Amino acid sequence: MDEAGTERMDTNTVLQLNSVSKNFGGLQAVCDVQMRVTHGQRHGLIGTNGAGKTTLFNLIAGDLPVSTGTIVLFGTDVTTMPVHKRTRLGLRRTYQTPALFNGLTVRENLYLALLGNDPPMRHLSCWKSAFKDTEKLNLVQSTAETVELSRRLDDKVGDLSHGERKQLEIGMVLSTNPRLLLLDEPAAGLSVHEREVMKDLLRSIASDITLFIIEHDMDMVIHLADRITVMYDGVVLAEGDPKQIQADPDVQRVYLGEAINGTGA
Ligand SMILES: Nc1ncnc2c1ncn2[C@@H]1O[C@H](COP(=O)(O)OP(=O)(O)OP(=O)(O)O)[C@@H](O)[C@H]1O
Ligand SMILES: [Mg+2]
Repeated sequence: MDEAGTERMDTNTVLQLNSVSKNFGGLQAVCDVQMRVTHGQRHGLIGTNGAGKTTLFNLIAGDLPVSTGTIVLFGTDVTTMPVHKRTRLGLRRTYQTPALFNGLTVRENLYLALLGNDPPMRHLSCWKSAFKDTEKLNLVQSTAETVELSRRLDDKVGDLSHGERKQLEIGMVLSTNPRLLLLDEPAAGLSVHEREVMKDLLRSIASDITLFIIEHDMDMVIHLADRITVMYDGVVLAEGDPKQIQADPDVQRVYLGEAINGTGA
């Protein structure tokens, strides 16, 4: 590829993993993973329980250090960069179990997420103004509408259903203008109706926000993702578009087969 071609490829790359591995003592949870996520992509990450998916997200987000390999985010080597600096670059993540303030309302949780965008010195004054910044309150309102929680704004988060908590968590990361979102099982444990709400919500996310989604719900992955990586036992088993992944015999045997037999997710 000529120089111009290389440049185009680089600016299109949001996330590049180069031979990334993670060991926990003798256990190799992530093994020599090579991966590229491009701008605007809906990239699905699937695999059986314990395949290393969440560990990979922990490495990308900086919640865990890599054992070996490098991680390049928006063209910057972030391999040893702390979480808050990766966040500043535009990376946000959600967790398998939503990380929320249960004793506060939906409005307060969304508001606090917005404060994360401010320089640290302003936090105290924002707290003192007791959630009265009109611009932020308007943004909270519109975010709540996006994630279908406008009728729950004054309810305590502890009173929300599991699905609503998942919606709120996505609202909290969305309101902070992310460039790359890592979503860890957004549909896990949701009812059929809640899954549909989540599917619509994820589909409605602006196309310039790149999504990297761990998901066991195959139907959701097939319908959302334009690219899918399959992990098994720490390694990348396959990568391709949804049709290629569905037709891949290794994937069928290892992932779909186990899921169908009830031993997978
Ligand atoms: N902090 C840790 N310390 C030790 N072992 C860990 C740690 N985190 C994960 N593991 C192990 O690493 C392996 C991969 O775990 P991981 O949570 O990444 O899998 P996963 O693909 O996300 O699975 P699931 O679909 O069940 O969420 C598992 O064997 C797990 O027990
Ligand atoms: Mg996991």
